[in-house]
Amino acid sequence: MKVLVVGGGGREHAICVKLKESSKVDELYCAPGNGGTAQIATNVNIKATDIDGIVNYAKEGSFDLVVVAPDDPLAMGLVDKLNEVGIRAFGPKANAAIIEASKAFSKEFMKKYNIPTAKYEIFDNEEDAVKYLDTQEAPIVIKCDGLALGKGVIIAQTIEDAKTAVHEMVSDHKFGSAGSTVVIEEFMTGPELTVLAFADGKIAVPMISSRDHKRALDGDKGLNTGGMGAVTPGADLSEEDNKRIYETIIDPTMKALVKEGRPFKGVIYFGLMLTKDGPKVVEYNARFGDPETQAILPRLETDIFDIFQATIDGTLSDIDIKWKDCCSCVVVAASGGYPESYEKGFEIKGLDTCDHLVFHAGTKMTEDGKIVTSGGRVLCVYGEGKTLDEAIDSAYEGLAPITFDKMHFRKDIGRTLGK
Ligand code: AMP
Ligand code: GLY
Repeated sequence: MKVLVVGGGGREHAICVKLKESSKVDELYCAPGNGGTAQIATNVNIKATDIDGIVNYAKEGSFDLVVVAPDDPLAMGLVDKLNEVGIRAFGPKANAAIIEASKAFSKEFMKKYNIPTAKYEIFDNEEDAVKYLDTQEAPIVIKCDGLALGKGVIIAQTIEDAKTAVHEMVSDHKFGSAGSTVVIEEFMTGPELTVLAFADGKIAVPMISSRDHKRALDGDKGLNTGGMGAVTPGADLSEEDNKRIYETIIDPTMKALVKEGRPFKGVIYFGLMLTKDGPKVVEYNARFGDPETQAILPRLETDIFDIFQATIDGTLSDIDIKWKDCCSCVVVAASGGYPESYEKGFEIKGLDTCDHLVFHAGTKMTEDGKIVTSGGRVLCVYGEGKTLDEAIDSAYEGLAPITFDKMHFRKDIGRTLGK
């Protein structure tokens, strides 16, 4: 089978590694890919958001499957457009991907179907939002409606800060059209947990849980990033806890999406907070998380190509998805300055002496075969062990020989879980 993976981050490298393990995949391509995918697949120089470019390339190359990993092309309808020209594609259609692409949509959807989430109001003008804020207490959360690279969420510690955030989003268009509508919601507290699930339009089969680390600096300080590391499992959950998450969140979400005429196929991401009143949804995403995927997929024992096919065919209930019995951790090495401005083009040294799985993100291969930095999150190193502490130690051991100028990583990934 001939497979194209769309995207170019660590998540896409991890997906490529699993597809490469499948005996059914004989030709693997990645658009645009990175320095890591270049070593196991053929990189194709087409941007993930160049919808026509991807569709034409997949059609001309008679691909058997296209895996659409990032949020933007999903929201732009890449899966729909591939299907229109007869190409099988893994991922939700645009009308289901909207659960990530519009926070206003997803909040109304959860309210309608009684899916637990923070209380909220939606505004498209500053005046009404300010009036509402005068009746609320801080901390309070202000979110852009649309996709904003994980940066469109402000946790305001005072009502004044909340008003400033609304002004910047709605009136100053700091996030372009993504912020012209804002969601103002109740501040929740509790540990966060990511649950990804394979979905086939009818049922969702949860993967092992994981925990992302969104802030740039140790101790959950600094700016929000795309994610600086992740561990599996994401929490010490009992059978009862898992059942509650499935019965109050995962299953009702899948059923409600069918009712709304938006059956979801692909990977559905439940960003949860384990509050004292039970698990609540912080956000839905319509795709694999990054870097959670890099911590999760190495533990997958079932052929990922078969799972992808089953999500498209609606036959997930026929597959027994198996996971390796261990804990895992990935630590992200980022460019100094990320998530704000940073330099690129530094040579990455030590990769040849690292005997761990390394997933590349912002890297590229130069003409003379060197791997250099080309993005904010540069790579992540995977470790596993019988206990979480062993997995964390292993990931940091793997990272030890790797260096590049201005490299930055968190030293406490997974260390604060349960504490
Ligand atoms: P989101 O992009 O919606 O996942 O939000 C990014 C991060 O902001 C989340 O991972 C949480 O850490 C935090 N956050 C979002 N919404 C809330 C909320 N209602 N209460 C507390 N923290 C929140
Ligand atoms: N790790 C968070 C995300 O993928 O959105």
